[in-house]
Amino acid sequence: MKKTLLLIAAALIALLPATAQGKKGKKFTHETVAIPQVEKQVIAVETENSSLVLLVHENGRLETTHYGARIAQPAQFLKWRVKTDDYNGQRGNTFPVTGGRYVGEPALHVKYADGSHNTELYYTGHAVSQKDGCVTTVIDLKDYVTGLQVKLVYDAYQKEDVIAQHTEILNGGKKPVELLSYASASLYVDADEYLLTHCHGTWASEMQPESELLGHDLKVIESRRGTQNTQGNNPSFLLSLNTKELSETEGEVIAGALAWSGNFRLSFEQDDAHRLNIIGGISPFASAYPLAAGARFETPEMVFTWADNGAGGASRNLHRWARKGGVYGGGEVNPTLLNSWEGAYFNFTTETLLRMMDDAAGMGLEMFVLDDGWFGNNYPRNNDDAGLGDWEVNVKKLPEGIDYLAQYAHGKGLKFGIWIEPEMVNPASDLAHAHPEWVIQSPGREIYQGRHQWVLDLTNPAVQDFVFGIFDRTMRLAPNIDYIKWDCNRVVQSFGSPYLGAQQDRFYVEYTQGLYNVMRRIREKYPEVIVQCCSSGGGRVDYGALRYCNEVWTSDNTDAVSRVNIQYATSFIYPACIMAAHVSAVPNHQTRAVTPLKFRFDMACTGRLGMELQPKQLTPEERALADRCIGSYKKYRDLIFKGDLYRLVSPLDGHYYALMYVSEDRSRAVVFTYALQYEARTVGGKTIRLQGLDPSRRYKVTEQNVDKSCWWGDGGAFGGDFLMGGGFNPVLKTRYSSAIFLLEAQ
Ligand code: GLA
Repeated sequence: MKKTLLLIAAALIALLPATAQGKKGKKFTHETVAIPQVEKQVIAVETENSSLVLLVHENGRLETTHYGARIAQPAQFLKWRVKTDDYNGQRGNTFPVTGGRYVGEPALHVKYADGSHNTELYYTGHAVSQKDGCVTTVIDLKDYVTGLQVKLVYDAYQKEDVIAQHTEILNGGKKPVELLSYASASLYVDADEYLLTHCHGTWASEMQPESELLGHDLKVIESRRGTQNTQGNNPSFLLSLNTKELSETEGEVIAGALAWSGNFRLSFEQDDAHRLNIIGGISPFASAYPLAAGARFETPEMVFTWADNGAGGASRNLHRWARKGGVYGGGEVNPTLLNSWEGAYFNFTTETLLRMMDDAAGMGLEMFVLDDGWFGNNYPRNNDDAGLGDWEVNVKKLPEGIDYLAQYAHGKGLKFGIWIEPEMVNPASDLAHAHPEWVIQSPGREIYQGRHQWVLDLTNPAVQDFVFGIFDRTMRLAPNIDYIKWDCNRVVQSFGSPYLGAQQDRFYVEYTQGLYNVMRRIREKYPEVIVQCCSSGGGRVDYGALRYCNEVWTSDNTDAVSRVNIQYATSFIYPACIMAAHVSAVPNHQTRAVTPLKFRFDMACTGRLGMELQPKQLTPEERALADRCIGSYKKYRDLIFKGDLYRLVSPLDGHYYALMYVSEDRSRAVVFTYALQYEARTVGGKTIRLQGLDPSRRYKVTEQNVDKSCWWGDGGAFGGDFLMGGGFNPVLKTRYSSAIFLLEAQ
C-alpha cells in the first residue's frame, strides 16, 4: 500500500511543469538530435534576366532571399537579414514543412509511423550541372530525426528565363511514412501588393480570367476532379507585383504553371511580414501517399518565370520555353484540318466522309480527322450512350474500313487523323461486361455515369496495357495514321479502385501516373504522330499532358465570340502552337450566335486553324472566302507557331481585341484586330500601338483576305517606330468586323 502511494506521488510530480519540478531541484531534460553546422553560403539559381537567391544559414536552414531581377553579385545576400524575428519559422523558408517552428501552409507534411507530424529540413549539400542551355541545381535537405531526405531540383532555362522546379522525397527511415502534402515548389516573393490573375471555367467556357488583390487569408486554387482537371480552374497563375492592374507591358509579373494533369493545388499565403509564399503541387485531397522505407516520390514540375515587362513578357517567356521543349513537338507547324464532329456528328457513312475529304482537299486544308462514331459493333457507337471500350471499326457504318478512308485521304494529299477516348467505357459495351473490375467504383455504391460513361481504373497496370493497346491498334488500322485526337469526357466521382484495394489514398496520384505511363509508351513507339489532347474541350490544358501531346482542343465552344476570351486567357500561360481553333457553322451549335464567316476565320487563324462543319453547306461565296483565308493563313502561320505573341488590346471590356505575333528576328509580323461591339458611327476605329517590331526598320503592311482594306495605309511601308508609336488605326466599328495584317520588313 505504501509502495503504491509512493508510485502515485511520483507520477503526479512527473506531470507537474518543468519549472515546478525545478523548484524542487530536479532538472528537466529533453534530448535532441544534434544538427551539424554548415558553411554559410548563397545559392543562386539564375537565368539570363532573373535570379532566385537562396541563403544557407550556419544552422542548415535554407532561406529564400530574392526572386526577381538578375543580381550580378548574389553573394551580397550573405549578410542578408530581415527585420522580422523567426518566431513562426516564416523567415523566407525556402521549402516550408510541417514541424519545427513553422505553422503556416506547408509544402511538405509527413506523418511518421509513430504518429508524429514533425519534420525539420536542414541543408546537407548541393550540386550544379549544365546541359543544353539549362542549369540544374539540386539541393539536398535532411531531417536528422527521421532520416527523411528531400531534394529540391531547379532547372533554370537560361535564355527563356524559366525555372522548372520539382521535389524528390526519399524515406530514409526504417518504417513507412505517409506524405500528407508533397508540393513541387514553394516560392517566396516580397512586394507591397500582389495581384493574382488566374483562369476558371466550365464546359464550353474554359479559361475565364479573374484578377484579385490578395489579402492576408490563405488563397487556394484547387481541383479535385481526378480527370478533366482544367475544366474548372487551370493549374496556373499570373502574379503582378506592386500594382492593382494587370498590365501587358509594365511591371514585375511572375507566371507559374503546374505540369500535372491530376488533382492540383496552388496556394498563396502572406506571412507576418507580408511576404507571399506560393506553393504549387499535387492536391493532397484524399491522397495521403504512403512511402515505404527506402522508397522515393518524385513530384511533377512547377514551371515559373519572372519578367519586368508585364504579363506580356511573362507569357512570352513561358511560350518560348514551351516551344523549345516544354510542349511535345512545340514550335512545329501542325496541319490545318477538317474535323468531322460538328459537320456530321455520329451520322455518317463512308460516302459522307469521302465527300468531306474532297471538300477539305478542295479548300486547301491539309488533314481530315474522323471524330467520334466510327467504332462498336455489338454496341454500335451511333450515339454517346454506347460503344466506348469496343474499339473495332463499326462494319455496318464503315464496311470498307479505316484503311480505305486513310488511303483515300492520302490520295487526296490529306493527312488522316482519328478520335479515341481510351480511358472510358460505356456500360453498354462488350468491355464493361468483360471487365467490370476495370471500372472505377466503390463497393456497394452507385457508379455514377457522366455522358452515359464510366472511367477506367488507370491505376491498374492491366488497364494501362489495355489503354496503350487501344492507341496501338488504332494506329495500326491503317498504315499511315497521322493524328490522334485523345478525348476524356468526364470527371472521376465516388472514386475507388478495385486494384488498389485498401490503399485508396494512392488513387488520384496513380491514376495520373498511369496515364503518363501510357503516354510515355506511346511516344516511344510513335514519336511522329500528332496527338491532340481533348477533354470535353479544354479539360486537360496543362504542361503535364503537353509533355506528350502536340496541341489541345481549346474548347467545345466554337463560337468565335466565346473563343475571344478563351483563347486570350489561354495565351497567358500556353503558346498559340497548342491552341486548336476551328471555324464552325452558324448559328453556332453551342451558343446559337451568328457571326460573319470572316470573323470566324480571323479568330481561328490566331491558333492552329481548322474547320468543323459540313463544307457542302457553305455558299459559293463562303467557299471562296474559306479558300482565300486558308491560303493566306499558310503564308503567315509560321509566325503563330514560332513567333512571339503580343497581346495589344485586352478584350475584357468587350470593345476590341487585338494581338500580334512577331518572328524572332523581327522581320515579319501578323496583326489581328476585332471589334466586339458597335462603336458608333462617329468613332473612327481604334488606334492600336503595335509591339515587338524593330523601330528602325520599315514594314510593308498588307491586309489579308479583303479587296478593300479598313486601313488607309494598306499596301504602304511604315517605320516600326511609327506603327508602335500610334500610327496604326484601322477602322473597325461594326460589331464582329475584323482584320488581319501581314507586316514584312523591307
Ligand atoms: C467531346 C469533344 C468533342 C467531340 C466529342 C465527340 O465533347 O470535346 O470535340 O470529339 O467529344 O463525342
